Amino acid sequence: MKKLAAGNWKMNGTKASLAEVEALLAAHPGPTCEMLLCPPATLISQMAALAADSALMVGAQDCHAKPQGAHTGDISVAMLKDAGASHVILGHSERRTDHGETDAQVRAKAEAVVDAGLVAIVCIGETESERDAGQTLAVIGSQIDGSIPMAATAANLVVAYEPVWAIGTGRTPTLAEIAEVHSFLRGRLRGLIGEEAEGVRILYGGSVKPSNATDIFAVPHVDGALVGGASLKAADFGAIVAALSAA
Ligand code: 13P
Repeated sequence: MKKLAAGNWKMNGTKASLAEVEALLAAHPGPTCEMLLCPPATLISQMAALAADSALMVGAQDCHAKPQGAHTGDISVAMLKDAGASHVILGHSERRTDHGETDAQVRAKAEAVVDAGLVAIVCIGETESERDAGQTLAVIGSQIDGSIPMAATAANLVVAYEPVWAIGTGRTPTLAEIAEVHSFLRGRLRGLIGEEAEGVRILYGGSVKPSNATDIFAVPHVDGALVGGASLKAADFGAIVAALSAA
């Protein structure tokens, strides 16, 4: 299994930000892990042009479940693919919170992504109050059961465990807590898709930085990271890519 360092730029970045991508590619032309950046949709096509013939892959942060139609402001998987995206992040907690996305909606989008031959990165994670109430495994178990596509394989699905309370806060679970969740997720995936589960990358996300990446990447069943803030700067994301390549 090749590990995956994925960056989620969220609602950040204009054309000027592509200088960071040039710097990243200059510093890390051939990492041994996979390297993916998911910029806002407005930058996918330009970033994909920059990344052509490089080790960098480009993805999107959301999509509509339908192939086309009267859905003002939405973007279909075919459009993202046409722009150069190979992956789509789905069910990020910010979309679940800001846009009320349900597991069923996330699954419908994931099915569309997989049907189009792209990779779905399905995000799950508990809130702080759910963790405090001892519900972490129950919550993420039910999210994974409800959100992954029916035809999930090691090639078309990546799972990202992102505790909501760790996103953008500088706080992370302990390594033992990350280990518990990732091992639980591997087992849950086995129950859902059998042997394919062994090859599904399970990423950790939430305040991953160069300073904690090496420790997190040593945790069993952590197959990479989904990085927010630290993916905006070539130096920080590059250091995380290097840590994963060395893991
Ligand atoms: P931060 O790395 O900024 O905490 O964000 C994590 C995240 O939400 C990635 O999708």
